Amino acid sequence: MLGGGQLGRFFVAAAHEMGYHVWVLDPDPHSPAALIADRHLLAAYDDYAALDELAQGCAAITTEFENVPAGTLDYLNKFVLVRPSAAAVSVCQNRIAEKNFLRDNGLPHAGFAAVHHEHDLREADDRLFPGILKVARFGYDGKGQAVVVNRDAAVAAFQQFKGETCVLEQKLALDCEVSVVLARDETGSIESFPTAENSHRKGILDVSLVPARVAAELHDEAAGLAGRIADRLGYIGTLAVEFFVVHGKLVINEMAPRPHNSGHYTIDACITSQYEQQVRALCGLPLGEARAHSTAAMVNLLGDLWYETTPAGDHYREPDWSKLHAFANLKLHLYGKHHARPGRKMGHFTVLDADPENARQVAMTARAAIGIVDAA
Ligand SMILES: Nc1ncnc2c1ncn2[C@@H]1O[C@H](COP(=O)(O)OP(=O)(O)O)[C@@H](O)[C@H]1O
Ligand SMILES: [Mg+2]
Repeated sequence: MLGGGQLGRFFVAAAHEMGYHVWVLDPDPHSPAALIADRHLLAAYDDYAALDELAQGCAAITTEFENVPAGTLDYLNKFVLVRPSAAAVSVCQNRIAEKNFLRDNGLPHAGFAAVHHEHDLREADDRLFPGILKVARFGYDGKGQAVVVNRDAAVAAFQQFKGETCVLEQKLALDCEVSVVLARDETGSIESFPTAENSHRKGILDVSLVPARVAAELHDEAAGLAGRIADRLGYIGTLAVEFFVVHGKLVINEMAPRPHNSGHYTIDACITSQYEQQVRALCGLPLGEARAHSTAAMVNLLGDLWYETTPAGDHYREPDWSKLHAFANLKLHLYGKHHARPGRKMGHFTVLDADPENARQVAMTARAAIGIVDAA
């Protein structure tokens, strides 16, 4: 496993339960996945001595982190099975490659322009304003993005990003956001998980509701589009596709070549989890059934919860988890991270219920009980 965050940790747990050993390569000595792995290679993603060890010790390699250099995956692939392929990962790790891929395959996406130089902004189509300027690489959780009302604002934002290559996207009026996680195996067979409806706070996923509260046909359409993307990428593994719903229609936002935060609910609510599917696809096993046996509401737990505001100042302490354990249909998952920082994903919980509105309501009550307060 390349990368050792929470997504890697759930992969390690799934692989262990299925009878596999896992080595994790991650430069972080406190990597949550490495804590439970059979071995931690504490090294950078381009440390070729470590990659050689990995290639010699492992039968197959996957990733949980889309920013692993494509060169690393290409190198490993000379010696050992790598899934998903470097080519598929590199499309998903660069917003320009991603948008070009969508355009070239006739898949619905927001209007965009690649921005290498200021003059690309000067010449950009008027219809792209107001827009969102996004750095082409390494952005996540809304980082490296600026809403730009007009051309001058876009130029100013581009300068703030120090001239890093960007993509300018038309700012769409969103009805809501949804995502589809799927798995595709080496035979090309696909299992799609139910569509999740996602809401964000400060650019970070906050709540996922499953099934998404959108028109029935959009569920099939979203799964169909995600499946086409996986086919065109020749993808093997677990893939996530984020969508905007705009005037009742689906627009593809972005892809992640790995399990996804909005697919955490699959651990508790589906026959097979997104992580078990990743293991299955990697190991050449047939995929498990993706069907949900329950409706679900998932809530992210960020590091902010560790900071209690008292008259004497901010106080760092572990949240009182008994407030969540009090709910009989709530499953808490903490990631074992060493230190909580505001905005850092520390854990999540999923509420399971036969009725989706009940699941949502219990999740919101539990969310308030642990101290997540919505900004007014
Ligand atoms: N073109 C757009 N129009 C409207 N909202 C957008 C657009 N692009 C992004 N957003 C909002 O910003 C969020 C983060 O953008 P995204 O491209 O998904 O980046 P990240 O890699 O940070 O998840 C989206 O989930 C959405 O809420
Ligand atoms: Mg996103």
